[in-house]
Amino acid sequence: MMEFRNTYENDAYAAAYAKLEFPGTYYLAFRDMPDILSRHVQGSVALDFGCGTGRSTRLLRKLGFDAVGIDIAEEMINKARTVDPTGDYRLVSDGDLDQFADGTLDLVLSAFTFDNIDAHARKVGLLSGLARVLKAEGRIVNLVSSPDIYLHEWASFSTKDFPENGLAKCGDVVRIIVTELEDKRPVDDILWPDEDYHDVYKKSGLEVVKTYRPLGSADDPCEWVNEDTIPPWVIYVLKKS
Ligand SMILES: C[S@@+](CC[C@H](N)C(=O)[O-])C[C@H]1O[C@@H](n2cnc3c(N)ncnc32)[C@H](O)[C@@H]1O
Repeated sequence: MMEFRNTYENDAYAAAYAKLEFPGTYYLAFRDMPDILSRHVQGSVALDFGCGTGRSTRLLRKLGFDAVGIDIAEEMINKARTVDPTGDYRLVSDGDLDQFADGTLDLVLSAFTFDNIDAHARKVGLLSGLARVLKAEGRIVNLVSSPDIYLHEWASFSTKDFPENGLAKCGDVVRIIVTELEDKRPVDDILWPDEDYHDVYKKSGLEVVKTYRPLGSADDPCEWVNEDTIPPWVIYVLKKS
């Protein structure tokens, strides 16, 4: 198995990522988010877990959430603060949610963060912590990459240079290039199929309320490559069990 590194703990990558909004395949990850959040979430107190340079936090703020963004990568948090000086972005150490009291959040959004969490026990530890800070009726929205994303070409991603992705099993490193970024170095992600997410949720005291797999349509402002037939993203809406 390849060694895993957090691509985001890097100034150049953070600078490139800070310019990314919702182009191409990313559009599809966030297209349905306003509707999903209004359907499933009551209240406005939100945590953006793994906020990166703040793209997902800014979306929450635009939708009226009182959102705090946290991340383990100082380079990403610094950029988030520059792009959105009035936002609340906090650097945390891995798994440290102590600044959030138990049972206080209406929403935890995690956009692509769990693609970077490299072991079953870490995923369970983090999700159990996020469940603890959630209100009884609160929801976790976990947006992750579908295993298919690492096997095909997309409007915003390329994987053709990494045929070894096809042999990867749950927990293995898979590689993908974000073609929208100026920085074309591959990102290391961790493959985590649907059944393994279900196992992790169960062990974290969470239940899946609904799973969304958005597909591209002819009405979208993008030229799709495979997005209109193969869903690149999975969005889990979770509640405490
Ligand atoms: C792909 S970026 C996504 C950023 C943002 N959510 C967005 O949609 O643009 C994933 C982020 O998760 C962060 N991350 C990874 N492990 C984390 C952890 N244990 N706690 C908090 N953040 C983490 C990474 O540092 C990175 O900034």
